[in-house]
Amino acid sequence: MDRLTLRRPDDWHLHLRDDAMMRAVLPETTRNFARAIVMPNLVPPVVTARDAAEYRDRILAAKPTGSKFRPLMTLYLTEETDVRDLRAAADIGLITAVKLYPAGATTNSASGVRDFSKVRRVLENMAQIGLPLLVHGEVTDPEIDIFDREATFITRVLDPIRRDIPGLRVVMEHVTTRDAVDYVREGGADIAATITTHHLVINRNHILAGGIRPHYYCLPVAKREEHRHALVKAATSGDASFFLGTDSAPHLDTAKLQPCGCAGCFTATNTLSILAEVFEAAGALDRLEAFASLNGPAFYRLPPNEDRIVMEKGAPVAYPSSIATEEGPVTVFDPGMPLHWRVAE
Ligand code: NCD
Ligand code: ZN
Repeated sequence: MDRLTLRRPDDWHLHLRDDAMMRAVLPETTRNFARAIVMPNLVPPVVTARDAAEYRDRILAAKPTGSKFRPLMTLYLTEETDVRDLRAAADIGLITAVKLYPAGATTNSASGVRDFSKVRRVLENMAQIGLPLLVHGEVTDPEIDIFDREATFITRVLDPIRRDIPGLRVVMEHVTTRDAVDYVREGGADIAATITTHHLVINRNHILAGGIRPHYYCLPVAKREEHRHALVKAATSGDASFFLGTDSAPHLDTAKLQPCGCAGCFTATNTLSILAEVFEAAGALDRLEAFASLNGPAFYRLPPNEDRIVMEKGAPVAYPSSIATEEGPVTVFDPGMPLHWRVAE
């Protein structure tokens, strides 16, 4: 097979940032993706309906002319989130989901949730109206080893919340462990998970063996090979509980290459080529459409995109090693393998 037609994909977890960075990275996503769930972890975060409307307008103003790209906005859940403001934003279709960051878990998460009892009423309201909660599933307890933080989050935080608030619809974002895959697979219709492109390709050796590689450092941090294997199995299985959220998270190289560098892999540019390679290697090219274009809209109760993209296989595609911004380069994720599939039309 050297030609593949699929419904235009969507990205169910994306960081677009703002200002110069947004102008530089937005075309990398709008080129092939129809919609994206836009993460709200700006500084300061997107907390109110008004913040979301203004951010959406800045994205629409920055998008390339002629592009039909639609940003799907999210609110950043805080202990002070106003239920009425949130419900009004959901009612008018301004927001598609709400993001939960445990305080301190990742980039710009300081305003996140410390005391889950303080967001109970918000979560109950979300369950009533079917508004998905997107969780960054890592505990922040310094006693817990960083490689165990996702698995511990499931038992300590996520499962208790879901038992406490039946009907709450949850997307466990960027899962990195077999524990999370198993939990989601067995969790029924109200839970799903996004899987990133890079977590299908790298394990923790890629970050640490033979020299430290800051461009492979992201959160949740990549785990052992057996976990990567579980992610590939889940993504390529066709199971509707799993769909693409690239978590493409641009940081300037000057922010990554530091004694204490930022977390995030920038994959918007070459994501579809990498995915086709991964799915082909798994003998599952015919399931790429489910993962990238069908399962996400189904969970979000949105129609899949009507138009199609065509991917073609040929000589290895050369992607730029970095994207230029007005403030300096952002390194594009290096999958460490030749990419033979490109989006042709
Ligand atoms: C993200 C970022 O840079 O905003 N970083 C990352 O490593 N994934 C935040 C996040 O999604 O955790
Ligand atoms: Zn993210």
